[in-house]
Amino acid sequence: MAKKLWGGRFKQSTNRLVEDFSASIDFDWRLYREDIAGSIAHCKMLGQCGILTEDEVEKIVDGLIEIQREIERGDFEFDPTLEDIHMAIEQRLIEKIGDVGGKLHTARSRNDQVALDLRLYLRNTIKWYLKLLHSLRTSIVNLAEKYADTIMPGFTHLQHAQPIVLGHHLMAYYEMFTRDSERLKDCLKRVNVMPLGSAALAGTTFPIDRNLTAKYLDFPEISRNSIDAVSDRDFAIEFLSAASIIMLHLSRLSEELVLWNSIEFGFVAISDAFCTGSSIMPQKKNPDVPELIRGKTGRVYGALTSLLTMMKGLPLAYNRDLQEDKEPLFDAIDAVAACVEIMARLLSELTFDETRLREEAEKGFITATDLADYLVRKNIPFRRAHRITGEIVQYCIKHNKRLEALQLDELREFSGTISKDIYDYIKIDTSVNKRTSYGGTAPGLVKEAIREAKNVLEDEKERYAL
Ligand code: ARG
Repeated sequence: MAKKLWGGRFKQSTNRLVEDFSASIDFDWRLYREDIAGSIAHCKMLGQCGILTEDEVEKIVDGLIEIQREIERGDFEFDPTLEDIHMAIEQRLIEKIGDVGGKLHTARSRNDQVALDLRLYLRNTIKWYLKLLHSLRTSIVNLAEKYADTIMPGFTHLQHAQPIVLGHHLMAYYEMFTRDSERLKDCLKRVNVMPLGSAALAGTTFPIDRNLTAKYLDFPEISRNSIDAVSDRDFAIEFLSAASIIMLHLSRLSEELVLWNSIEFGFVAISDAFCTGSSIMPQKKNPDVPELIRGKTGRVYGALTSLLTMMKGLPLAYNRDLQEDKEPLFDAIDAVAACVEIMARLLSELTFDETRLREEAEKGFITATDLADYLVRKNIPFRRAHRITGEIVQYCIKHNKRLEALQLDELREFSGTISKDIYDYIKIDTSVNKRTSYGGTAPGLVKEAIREAKNVLEDEKERYAL
């Protein structure tokens, strides 16, 4: 058994059960890159502040770089008796370069170290997510462009409401995922705060320069309160809440794809490459990908709930409970990334049935609002126009007719203001073309929104070097 780095105070060795119970190396090994980057910055700062000699700094930094190579080559043994990634790396450093390795932990604690590692990890994750969301948003915009003129029924309460163009419907999701990117960028401001130097909870007696460590690690800010810095996980909770909202949006999109891919709707065909079959029913082609995305939403919400619950009763400052932040966090990070990536691909291979969408858009007295609007233009107050139109719809139902099939005489029974031009007014094409209020479904506006979105995406590409 490896000797514990904190073993000085202990007469007995740790119970095996406790060792297994408390070890986090099985999952926190994922922080190795951040841990090493943080240690190198810390060590260089200690050197600059005269706390370590140049020679010591060089040995430690070289040792850490070699350890990173060992890990990446798969030559590093993650020993569970060493508890966590921080201990494992420090122990290996001492093994490699001798006693001087033990100087690395001067003016530092695992409490501020793990907070730093997590912040670095999430910072990278956010940058990665912005890329993934960028390609998802690009897929959506491309699809919206293809179907910018395609008329379909728009729904409220899952009932035919008003005709819209498919491009407009799709661009609604562009808005959601754009907000998600904005939310992540905003969250990054709080993630991007450097906690190292808070030490265990009270700061350190050594003359360190925390701003220098921050500079080495490219942090724009350092934490102001050491107690808060080691006990805060708000940044992770914020990240998970942004992640949960991404999943919420993906899940709604998935639900629509599942519905639209059914025989009943028949709006869309998901390509074979993104479906799977049934082991018993030979005819089946199931939309498993959107179903799984919808299903995985639960585990991401679960991660958020785990962290919120874990935090709520903790006294200041660090408590070991905080170790429980990592598994849900990592699990959620993987799930969201996989879902965003696969959705982007799936969307780029969708084919919509434009004929069917149009046929469906003709059904359900879908231009009744336009008829009411027509009456309003003839100076009938909207409320009365609504009533008259309702009566016309009732008449249609009774006589099994569509609105457009009514004779002018029949219509004029309900209002003498109606004339021949009504027929053009209640066409679905007229209905969408006339919806020109800003943000509306008129294809011209939708195309303009698509153009703007494309500019935004292009601009982001340059700005964030995507
Ligand atoms: N593995 C620990 C965690 O994830 C690191 C910090 C341990 N600190 C301590 N005082 N035991 O939170």
